[in-house]
Amino acid sequence: MATTGFDVRRVGGRIGAEVLGVDLSETLEPPLVEEINAALLEHKALFFRGQDLTDADQTRFAAQFGELTTAHPTVPSVEGEPHILPVDSEQGVRANHWHTDVTFVRTPPKVSTLRSLVVPPYGGNTLIADTAAAYADLPGPLRELADRLWAEHSNDHDYARPASPPRGEKAAEHRRIFVSRKWRTAHPVVRVHPETGERGLFIGGFAHRLEGLSADESRDLLRILQAYVTRPENTVRWRWAPGDLVVFDNRSTQHYAPDDYDDLPRRLHRVTVAGDVPVGVDGRTSRVIEGDEAAHYTPHAAA
Ligand SMILES: [Fe+2]
Repeated sequence: MATTGFDVRRVGGRIGAEVLGVDLSETLEPPLVEEINAALLEHKALFFRGQDLTDADQTRFAAQFGELTTAHPTVPSVEGEPHILPVDSEQGVRANHWHTDVTFVRTPPKVSTLRSLVVPPYGGNTLIADTAAAYADLPGPLRELADRLWAEHSNDHDYARPASPPRGEKAAEHRRIFVSRKWRTAHPVVRVHPETGERGLFIGGFAHRLEGLSADESRDLLRILQAYVTRPENTVRWRWAPGDLVVFDNRSTQHYAPDDYDDLPRRLHRVTVAGDVPVGVDGRTSRVIEGDEAAHYTPHAAA
């Protein structure tokens, strides 16, 4: 492949790389988009420092990787920017739980982009985990078991019923909006990546019940599998500066935003690229259990 001259420097040993020498405010030539996509597939999370993009820039950049979703199935977008989801601590948003974005619908986004507008002086980092490395780490018998499992994902689960009550009225209001419509979807616990063929654990915070198992068995087994996702070797930590853009492959990662910045403001804008229907190792595809295909959210709903 012809090189277009950007530099890729790995950040974590297994996941994450910083990309230098690309100006994302410009329309990128298709070969460059392909190279960035190849780097994304390899490293699963890409970090771009000092881009200082506008909402329009971020939207245009994300759209080079495919059709966009709207901001969120239930949470309103930034006013006048239907593709941009505000991730704002002052609006009660603190994603301090491991999750893959929007897995409660049948076609979760394939790629998420996050851009920093306001960054606290300490804390407020983002952790990203490699779910394919987690799968590869599983001992053989656990891998064989995981290959056959299916999990139910719902938006009216983790965010809605946290271990501790929401912090303040804003957080309670955000939670109320988040669960204002309910989806439940069955996804394979091991997803075959549509571009690389790589297998990865596809669970995270919205997964709460394993099909055919009791609630107790589900919780215990999910905890065991999830421990492989979140082991430090399989994660990378990004320390935000204002103007950064972070891109991650939502098909092969989970992420977590530690709530360690007190009441300081932290504001990111998220734009996601629509994804396809997950496929398990036996070729079966995800199915809706409750709710609809979320056609108002993702253009690939009926795919
Ligand atoms: Fe997220």
